Amino acid sequence: MANLSYLPPVLALSLLVVFAADASTLQDYCVTILGNSVCKDPKLVEANDFFFSVLHIAGNTTNPTGSRVTPVFAAQLPGLNTLGISMARVDIAPWGINPPHSHPRATEIFTVLEGTLEVGFITSNPENRHFRKVLQKGDVFVFPIGLIHYQRNIGNAHVVAIAALSSQNPGGITIGNAMFGATPEIASEVLVKAFQLDKTIINYLQSKF
Ligand SMILES: *[C@@H]1O[C@H](CO)[C@@H](O)[C@H](O)[C@H]1NC(C)=O
Repeated sequence: MANLSYLPPVLALSLLVVFAADASTLQDYCVTILGNSVCKDPKLVEANDFFFSVLHIAGNTTNPTGSRVTPVFAAQLPGLNTLGISMARVDIAPWGINPPHSHPRATEIFTVLEGTLEVGFITSNPENRHFRKVLQKGDVFVFPIGLIHYQRNIGNAHVVAIAALSSQNPGGITIGNAMFGATPEIASEVLVKAFQLDKTIINYLQSKF
């Protein structure tokens, strides 16, 4: 990084923003062969390597959260490899939730196709600010990279939403599952003090995940 200390702070900041560019790829594409990290021979690449027909199918929301995410990441669409983007369909039953989670490698831009949705995210320590918004059809919201966020259907209609993510493999950490369903499990003494809850409640939560 260049030494910007001689510049007025506002100008230095704007230069830092300019320096933050996307990484460039070294070839047009690198279609992965399933379970392999090498690129498929470019002469053998075909249109179907860049194609995946799935997002017209409603996800099954019959589960405890009432939601389902249908991913289209590099694992599902090999042509996405090295390209740094992906997407997903989110289905949420009336009053269901997509539970608090984060994507360690991606910012998410999100739009509602059907229904009414409450969304929110929480910023880093120590502020832990909670940004919250109600979205209608066609509204767009952004969840910044790495921050914990959630969605809740606050209507009587099924919600369909589309998420676009700034990684071919955004990753997902669902907070409840990570804390109470880790393998092997986190010692209940850790969780008792972390969440200021009784051991019987912690053991109950661990049994749920
Ligand atoms: C949806 O999931 C539930 C629970 O796993 C299952 O019982 C049901 O058959 C599934 N429905 C469809 C249409 O696949």
